[in-house]
Amino acid sequence: MILGVLKEPGMETRVSLHPEAVKQLVGSGNQVLVEKEAGMQAFLANQLYEDAGAKIVERDALLTSAEMIFQIQPLGTEERAKLGKGKILIGVYQPLVAKELMQEIAQQGITLLSMDAIPRITRAQSMDVLSSMSTVSGYKAVLLAASQLPRFFPMLMTAAGTVAPAKVLVIGAGVAGLQAIATAKRLGAVVEAFDTRPSVKEQVESLGGKFVEVPGAVEDKAAGGYAVEQSEEYKQKQSEMLEKSIVKSDVIITTALIPGRKAPILVTREMLVKMKPGAVIVDLASINGGNCEGTVDNQTVTVEGVTIIGNSALPATMPEDATKMYSKNVHNLLKLLLKEDQLNLNFGDEIIKGTCITHEGAIVYAPLIN
Ligand code: NAI
Repeated sequence: MILGVLKEPGMETRVSLHPEAVKQLVGSGNQVLVEKEAGMQAFLANQLYEDAGAKIVERDALLTSAEMIFQIQPLGTEERAKLGKGKILIGVYQPLVAKELMQEIAQQGITLLSMDAIPRITRAQSMDVLSSMSTVSGYKAVLLAASQLPRFFPMLMTAAGTVAPAKVLVIGAGVAGLQAIATAKRLGAVVEAFDTRPSVKEQVESLGGKFVEVPGAVEDKAAGGYAVEQSEEYKQKQSEMLEKSIVKSDVIITTALIPGRKAPILVTREMLVKMKPGAVIVDLASINGGNCEGTVDNQTVTVEGVTIIGNSALPATMPEDATKMYSKNVHNLLKLLLKEDQLNLNFGDEIIKGTCITHEGAIVYAPLIN
C-alpha cells in the first residue's frame, strides 16, 4: 500500500508518523511517501525519513498518489477533493462536534478513520491518542501554571523564612487530570482533586492527592469510563463544596469534559472574585467552551485578578514526545488495518468499527447514525 505523511498546517508542530514507524511499515512491504519537511517542527529531518526507507515528495504529488493519507489536523475541502474516491484519511476529526464535515467527507467518497474515536477498551489502549495527548497536556498545564504563579510550588525552609507549599486543585481526574496531579506533587504542591466519577478516588489518592468528595454522583459503567450529565440538585451541591477548595487554591487545573457536549462551567465569576489575587487557572477544556467563566481558547486572560490560561493545543508544545506517542498509537492501529501491505478494513472488529467514520459514500459511525 502507498502511505503518505503530510506536513501539518498552521501552528501544529507534531507529525503523524515517526521515522521509527516508517521503517517498520516499509519493512512489511508498504511504500511510504513523506511530504518535504513534514517532520521539521518535531526535529525530524527529511534525511531521517529517507534513512527509514521513505521517499520525500511535494504535497501535491503525495495527495494524488498516496492511498492512505496521514495528517493529524483535518485536511481542508480543496485538498480532500484532490484525493479522489476510495482514499483513506487518518487524523483527528472530532466527529461528534463536526457532523457537517463528516457528511461532506462521506460525499467525497473518502474513508475516514478518526483517531479520537478509538474505543476506550483495554485492547485499544495502545492506540488511544486521547490518552497520549492528555498525558502531555496534564503535565504541561502544571508547568505553565508554575511558571506563571507569583510564588513557589514546594515548601521551602530558608534562612529568609519558611515558604508554605502551593495549593493545587485539579478538577476532572481523567488522564490529563491524573498526570497533572502527579506533576504538581513532584513539584512539591499540596494537591486536591475532584471528579464526578467516584471510582477515581483511589487513583487520586495513590498519586498523593486528596479527593474532594461530593456524595450522590451518577456514574454509568456503560459510558466507557466517561462522565455523564448529573442532576441539577447534584450540580448545586458540587458547586457549593467545590467553592471551598477553589477559593483557597493558588492553582487550578480544569479538565472536565463530557463527550459531545459543551464543557460544564465549574468555576464561576463569583468564585473568581473570592480567589487569591495572582492565582492561576489552566483550563484544558477550553476548546469545548472551558470549565471556567472567562476562559478564552488559546489565550491567556486576567479576570478578577486571576490569570486564566485557555490552552487546547498543549501537545504541540512538546512535539518530540507528542509525535512519538501519536505515531506509536497510529502504528498500532495500522497493525489491525493492514495485513502485510494490503488494507484489511474488518468491520467485525470493534476497534475498526468504532474508529471508521465514513466509508463508501456514507457515514458509518454509530453515534452519528443512531
Ligand atoms: P475526559 O477528557 O472526557 O474527561 C476528563 C475528566 O473530567 C473525566 O475523568 C470526567 O469524569 C471528568 N468530569 C466530567 N465532568 C465533570 C464535572 N462536572 N466535574 C468534575 N469532573 C468532571 O476523560 P479522559 O481523561 O479522556 O478519560 C476518562 C476515563 O476514560 C479514564 O479515567 C478511564 O477510566 C477511561 N479510559 C479508558 C481507556 C481504555 O480503556 N482504553 C483509555 C483512556 C481512558
